Amino acid sequence: MPLPLIIDCDPGVDDAIALLMALASPEFDLLGITTVAGNVPLALTAKNARKICQLAGRTEIDIYAGCPRPLLRPLVTAEQVHGSSGLEGADLPEPTVPLRSPHAVSFLIEQLTTAQQPITLAALGPLTNIAVALIQQPQILQNLQELVIMGGAIAQGNVTASAEFNFYVDPHAARVVFESGAKLTLISLDVTHQALTTPERLANIRAIGSPVSKAAADLLAYYGVTDAVKYGLPGAPLHDPCVIAYLLQPNLFTAEAAAVVIETQSELTLGRSVVNFQPVGAANARVMRTIRSAGFYQLLIERLERYVS
Ligand code: RIB
Ligand code: CA
Repeated sequence: MPLPLIIDCDPGVDDAIALLMALASPEFDLLGITTVAGNVPLALTAKNARKICQLAGRTEIDIYAGCPRPLLRPLVTAEQVHGSSGLEGADLPEPTVPLRSPHAVSFLIEQLTTAQQPITLAALGPLTNIAVALIQQPQILQNLQELVIMGGAIAQGNVTASAEFNFYVDPHAARVVFESGAKLTLISLDVTHQALTTPERLANIRAIGSPVSKAAADLLAYYGVTDAVKYGLPGAPLHDPCVIAYLLQPNLFTAEAAAVVIETQSELTLGRSVVNFQPVGAANARVMRTIRSAGFYQLLIERLERYVS
């Protein structure tokens, strides 16, 4: 049976690649896409989700706009990584697919309270929508199969030395989620930095030769510059698609149980995910440790190849 799935995201280039992967995967029953402010403001993340579904030929997918800012902090965006549009590099047409109402938080609550079978949630951006849904209606936990999160860092952050972007943007939302009791799976920078879009892998994506793979390659060519240069890497880490790969092929990863606590007090370490693999208290998450990156890119290309025209 296809896995009932909702993707919460802030497209953003790597979110876009994750969406293209998910939209080509019949293993999922994609109930909807919810968008949140993050890489770029909400108006653009919502528009970009619509552009990607249109590119994928999936105009039937319901897309919702969510929270336009974090719970407490002012919004911090990442145009320097994703471009001012959030999808720099590919010239995608204006979307004709409409945004659905209601608000993304209402959609999440409605789906999770009426679901006939548990729903898996993939969180690819700041956790604002998910935290608000959990605060408004804690009972949604009963129908939440698993919350798979791209975020956090065991070692070095990517916005500050301490914090990864999604948790830095909304540290209070991340704290609400990690204290909620939800079944959590965390894919942090320590794993996504093992999944680098090297020039060879980018060439393999472009060689597929379809409009979708051309757009994906054009997006990744633009996106790759910042982090590759920043970290002196042979290619940019491909963060969000790791969540989709985990849902499709969990054996690409190794994981350990851990107690994850989010720092929300200190300006110096705001948004830090403190990960304790020897927790005195009960572990609250499964934290990925490794990814087989060759297998990951093989899966990504195999899914992109399914877009034949
Ligand atoms: O730190 C990387 C994460 O922040 C990714 O999800 C990227 O899209 C941004 O949202
Ligand atoms: Ca994202």
